[in-house]
This record gives sequence, C-alpha cells and structure tokens, in this order.
Amino acid sequence: MQGRPYTGSVRATVSEPAARRLRNHYPWARRQDVLELPAVHPGEVVDVHGPEGAWIARAYCNPRAEFPLRLLRWTPGDVGPQFYGTRVRAAYQRRLDMDLGAEAWRWIHAEADGLPGLIVDRFGSALAVQFRNAGVERHRGWILEALREVSGAELAFERSETHERRAEGLSPQSGLLWGALPERVIFSEDGILHRFAPLISQKTGFFLDQRDNRRWLSAQFRPGQALLDLYCYTGAFSLRAARAGLTAYAVDRDPLALTTLEESAAHNGLGSQIALRLGDVPQVLAELRRSGRTFEHIVFDPPTLVKQKSEVPWAKRLIAGALADALAMLRPAGLLLVSSCAHHLRLEDLLEAARWAAGDAGALLEVVRVSYQPPDHPWMLQVPESLYLKSVALRRLE
Ligand SMILES: C[S@@+](CC[C@H](N)C(=O)[O-])C[C@H]1O[C@@H](n2cnc3c(N)ncnc32)[C@H](O)[C@@H]1O
Repeated sequence: MQGRPYTGSVRATVSEPAARRLRNHYPWARRQDVLELPAVHPGEVVDVHGPEGAWIARAYCNPRAEFPLRLLRWTPGDVGPQFYGTRVRAAYQRRLDMDLGAEAWRWIHAEADGLPGLIVDRFGSALAVQFRNAGVERHRGWILEALREVSGAELAFERSETHERRAEGLSPQSGLLWGALPERVIFSEDGILHRFAPLISQKTGFFLDQRDNRRWLSAQFRPGQALLDLYCYTGAFSLRAARAGLTAYAVDRDPLALTTLEESAAHNGLGSQIALRLGDVPQVLAELRRSGRTFEHIVFDPPTLVKQKSEVPWAKRLIAGALADALAMLRPAGLLLVSSCAHHLRLEDLLEAARWAAGDAGALLEVVRVSYQPPDHPWMLQVPESLYLKSVALRRLE
C-alpha cells in the first residue's frame, strides 16, 4: 500500500492566513484552510502551496479528515524509507542526548519529532507503537523497518486505538508487530519493576510522562508517612511510596490496573504497604473524608477530562470539588500534587480550581512547584497543542 517514495508533483493549496501559520511550522491545516485539495487516497503525500503558488511543505493528505493536511517536511526531499530512517534516528539520538536516566521513555512524540501521528514508547527491549493518522498508517512498513533497525528491540506491539484515528476514518488496531508477545511487559523505572498487559492495558501501557513528578515527590517522602494515590493506574507513585517506607492508599476504577499494581507490589516485595481501592475517585474521596483519615501526600492525576474548550468550566468545578475533599484530609505541611493532561485545561485553570478548593476546605496553600511534561514528550513552541501535561505541587501551611 505504501508504494514508492513520494518525490513530488501532487498539489494542495491553502488560504493566506493558513499559509502564514504553516510556514512557521504549524503542522495542521483544517478543512476551512484549504482552497484546493487533490483527490488522493487517504494518507498519500502531497505538496502544500500558498495561494500565490509558493511551496510551503510536504504533507500527508486525507481528503476525508477534518484536518486534511498534516505537514511533515519543510525542506525539499522525498518521503520514503530514507526519510523515515533519518527522522527515527534523529528522535532516538535526541532522547539519548536528554540523558533521561531511564530504561523506559517516549521515543517518538508525533509532530514534536517531525512524524505527525506516530507515537512510540520504549520499555526496555519492547516497543509500543501507535499509528494515529492515515499517513503513518499508509507508510507503516517503512516506519516499522526503521524502528526495528534503529532500536534492535526484541518485541514490538501496536496500540492504535485512539479517537484521532477514528477521526481519520481508520478502525482501531492492536496486535503483535514482531517478536513474541509476553503476558506482561516488565521494565524498571528507577529500580522499581513495573508491568502491564501489552494489548489490553490503557494507552501504550504506562504513563511515562509522570516520571519526573514521581522522582520529585519521592524525594519528599519520609518513612512512616501516608500517601493517597488518586487515579493511581498501575500504582507507579504508590510503589515508590512503599519502597520509601510509607503506606499508600491507591484508588482507580480500572480493575486490570489494580490487579497489575497488586502483581507489581508482590514482585517488588512491597505488597503489605499498599491498600487498593477499586472505585470512582469523587465517591471514594467523600467516603474517606467521612472516615476521618489523613495523609501527608496526595496525588491527584485524573484522565483527560476535557477534549474541547467548552468543557473547561465543568472540569474546573469537578476538580475543585474533589480537591476540597482531598484537602480536608491533607495534614499540615502535607503535599498535594495536582495534574492535568488535557491541553485545553491550562495551568491557570488548575490553579483557580485549587484556589476554590482551598477556600472550601479553609486551607492555606503554598505553590511549591509547577512542572510540565518531561523532555521525552517535547513541547514545541509553534504547536501550542503539544503542551498537554501541567502539574502543581501545593504545600498546606495551615
Ligand atoms: C492519567 S492516568 C493516571 C496515571 C498514574 N498516576 C500513573 O502515574 O501511572 C488516569 C487514571 O484514572 C483512572 N480513572 C479515570 N476516571 C476515574 C474515576 N472516575 N475514578 C477512578 N479512576 C478513574 C483511569 O483508569 C486511569 O488509570
């Protein structure tokens, strides 16, 4: 299906305002930005021109999609095996240069690595791959070849089940790409062994983007303290707490995530210090609050609550309500780490929700740290949407 490398001649034209954005490396054109679109198969490469005829870039074209053009190279050259080899190798070297001190990291973060729609996470000798648009889907053979050659990974599996893919007219897809599929992928993060079920866990298996927050919070842990780990998934915060001599109360509504946490706790010899609670966070919080329990550390790391701007006011109220309950259980000098992985929910929204909650709980809070996604999930200046994870650490003074 991928055919021969694209060397040029098919033309799409965009409006002048869009051309200005695209020339400055913004990678997407919407339907209303396009003046002329060729009748190509979804995902074929085309040349994008401004209305006056000047060449801007090469792009994947999907005439069916809401974003029919996804730009991928702003310099002349073909789009084929050599192109993918170069981009994949550059992203690899970029991660090595980041000196992440980790065996699991995001290798390819889509547009931020010049490969729109491609996500690759590396977990030791295993790769999790996600093809999110018709362009990378069309060229998957070349991409997989490059990934295999550059990484030498023993195993790769696909987790292409995102809403972006549906919006491109593609069906969800998951399965083994090469190697032998284990029941659990196992890897280490700072000496703790984590695991996930490769084809049925959430996303690509593990939330690598919280690594730096986990490291920071771990440095605040003292033996004998207690952590409340809300939206814990497979318990990466809880496991660190248990290793540092704390007790952890881990809450999630995904039964597989909690089973996995239980397995990891046993595997790391930390089982007795972590209590698991299957349930809905707002409900569990209200219940815990009534029980009078208190904690020195609380992590609040919800899923992507908003997919569009109009949902932000609702999400702020939801977060504020939950945080008010959480704050009622936070001991003096305790830390509350609040994250949002929704692009539309800005740092200011998170701070305001926390301020409302502090008012309700009668708590005086100091902002001790603000952080963003770690460098292996790059945030590109010209692509505002590439900033998604924001976190605030708050210390209770009174
Ligand atoms: C961003 S992930 C958390 C990642 C985790 N903190 C880590 O470090 O691995 C969000 C989690 O929230 C869980 N979740 C979503 N809605 C929930 C709800 N209403 N109550 C409990 N858990 C929920 C999902 O199952 C998912 O595991």
